[in-house]
Amino acid sequence: MARSKSSSAWLKRHVSDPYVHRARAEGYRSRSAYKLIEIAKRDRLARPGDHVVDLGAAPGGWAQALAERVGRSGRVIAVDLLEIAPIPGVTIVRGDFREETVLRRLKDTVEGRKLDLVVSDMAPNLSGVSATDQARSIHLCELALEFARAHLKTQGAFLVKVFQGTGYPAFLAAMRGVFVAVASRKPGASRGDSKEMYLVGKELRGGTGR
Ligand SMILES: C[S@@+](CC[C@H](N)C(=O)[O-])C[C@H]1O[C@@H](n2cnc3c(N)ncnc32)[C@H](O)[C@@H]1O
Repeated sequence: MARSKSSSAWLKRHVSDPYVHRARAEGYRSRSAYKLIEIAKRDRLARPGDHVVDLGAAPGGWAQALAERVGRSGRVIAVDLLEIAPIPGVTIVRGDFREETVLRRLKDTVEGRKLDLVVSDMAPNLSGVSATDQARSIHLCELALEFARAHLKTQGAFLVKVFQGTGYPAFLAAMRGVFVAVASRKPGASRGDSKEMYLVGKELRGGTGR
């Protein structure tokens, strides 16, 4: 079957993408790992000993980079609908983050310990209807923000991928309502023509957890 124009363009871009080559050479499962690495360095996230939850983690590029950064004294819990092949130092919870049973399993895995960092790179399966996809994406961001608010230490941080469009300004306002400081980041590995943006929230407003 003939390839569509858009899939041939994607393949061409993928094959010549330096981040794809680098990920292969350095053993990361996704080129996205470099987005996490760049933001984590700049914003001093995922330090040795940190406890981190990674939402929407498959195939595991971010989780690999997080596990390297937090080291053996830290902990990374990775959640996804899809299977994630084992990663040393990473506990995997498979399931839909929107479901109560999965959230409960995740909470059991966290064992009541407050987290240093929550990251979310979740993106819904695309329906092709952009208004629907945007609404689903923002909904995942809102759920991740709620999880972060409930489980972070006061001095903790939240990193989330958001697509700019309907609902983005309201989500940004919600982030500012939860965190003392909110910054937007567009790492080098994020394609210029993509509407994705990464928001970093630091320090919970009025938090009580240490
Ligand atoms: C862009 S990928 C994440 C890539 C990952 N950060 C990496 O570096 O390998 C987005 C992921 O979000 C997951 N996802 C989307 N909706 C989800 C949900 N409701 N619950 C759990 N995972 C979800 C998808 O299955 C997909 O694997």
